[in-house]
Amino acid sequence: MSPMSSQSLPPIDVLVMAAGKGTRMKSRLPKVLQRLAGVPLVQHVLNTAAQLNARSAVVITGHGADQVEPLVLAPGQALAVQCVRQEPQLGTGHAVQQAVPVLADDGVVVVLSGDVPLTQADTLQALIAQCGGDKLALLTIDFTDPTGYGRIVRGGGQGDAVQAIVEHKDASDAQRAIREVYSGIMAVPARLLKAWLARLDNQNAQGEYYLTDVVKFAVADGVPVVAHKIHDALQVAGINSPVQLAELERAHQLRQAHQYMEQGVRLKDPARFDLRGQLDCAQDVEIDVNCIFEGRVSLGEGVKVGANCIIANCTIAAGAVIHPFTHIDGEKLGVSVGEGALIGPFARLRPGAQLGAQVHIGNFVEVKNSTMAQGAKANHLAYLGDATVGERVNYGAGSITANYDGANKHRTVIEADVHIGSNCVLVAPVTIGAGGTVGGGSTITKSTEPGALSVARGKQVSIANWTRPVKKPKD
Ligand code: UD1
Ligand code: CA
Repeated sequence: MSPMSSQSLPPIDVLVMAAGKGTRMKSRLPKVLQRLAGVPLVQHVLNTAAQLNARSAVVITGHGADQVEPLVLAPGQALAVQCVRQEPQLGTGHAVQQAVPVLADDGVVVVLSGDVPLTQADTLQALIAQCGGDKLALLTIDFTDPTGYGRIVRGGGQGDAVQAIVEHKDASDAQRAIREVYSGIMAVPARLLKAWLARLDNQNAQGEYYLTDVVKFAVADGVPVVAHKIHDALQVAGINSPVQLAELERAHQLRQAHQYMEQGVRLKDPARFDLRGQLDCAQDVEIDVNCIFEGRVSLGEGVKVGANCIIANCTIAAGAVIHPFTHIDGEKLGVSVGEGALIGPFARLRPGAQLGAQVHIGNFVEVKNSTMAQGAKANHLAYLGDATVGERVNYGAGSITANYDGANKHRTVIEADVHIGSNCVLVAPVTIGAGGTVGGGSTITKSTEPGALSVARGKQVSIANWTRPVKKPKD
């Protein structure tokens, strides 16, 4: 492709067709809101549009518009989005006609479908370059089984120039033998598109207004029609059913997995890797099978993640090890795990868990909205909520912070070098002074002095030679 200065190209306006019913999904959720890699299908398309630096996006809604519009119009979109309703749905040409009043004349319109999530920005850039601001550019692909697709009809004495797109249902046997199909994606100057849309009719096998008829108008008007043919079927794959959604999800995940492996990440099995957000990995990261990453996750150098972990919205520093079956979700507050920390197996880190270097969190330990300083340990069956835990604290098995009095949350402060025995209840607000010890089974309701041993439990009573009750004989 020849380099082009960006000033020489007209602005890009993206048009996303999303009015179709998606009957085969058999879902109450509109098809374009079904999720792939954790993101609604139509959002994938808008994300790609944003990568093109498009001036605007127009989403054509119809079926499920009440659900689709709030999502695409929500704040935080990287480009200006507006919605136009198409009711009833009389075909792809009719869909695009609805957008005419809101489309500027000076742009290039890129037509996309809300159910085709994996088109890459560089593919669309190449298509736009082919359009060049004065041609009709079609994205095409060869299929071994082109059944159902619009065929790219070339020739007609003029070499292999594109003459028309003929829909499968309207095609002759000879045309059905053509394997090059229209992907559903085109780039077209807005002023030409508008003129051609005004000429569409529905005199065809399906009685619909076909967008694809613009090709024959371009040919009639002497506007060049160019085809940009790609070979990567994933980029033009549409989703119509749960099976197709799962197939595309897997193909997409496998692609992501390969990209990480190329960067040096060691995935035990790329077929058992799921990324539903953003993952940054430093050097020498190892990830065992069946892990799911969501939101924003960052893994430092040499981090190891064991099998079957779910990790979301979390920063894990170098050398930390996340043992199998650990669940981490920082949600909005985030979770941070310090260098060389050991987490799990079966640990749960919730929003606001901030763990320092060399912290150990063992099995069935839950940490929420708590900081744990370097070297603190909670190895078994424990709860730390709204707590500030000092360096080297050892927090015994079965101990909990009672942080909630039924109305309000209170903080527990455990100062450095404290040893909390097993099965303690620390009733917040309470502070355990530095270097102190809390005897096993204590319920601590008052703050303790540094260095003190605190025991708060029933005194042990032993009755010598105790005779156990015996069972009464049956009458
Ligand atoms: C269309 C193309 C066909 C191409 C195929 C690629 C036409 C006439 N045909 O066919 O050449 O090979 O895509 O997948 O364009 N939609 C609306 N409103 C409508 C009809 C459709 O918004 O009235 C939306 C659908 O929701 C979908 C997209 O447009 O996102 C494409 O519609 P679809 O019915 O799948 O088009 P095909 O007939 O498959
Ligand atoms: Ca289709």
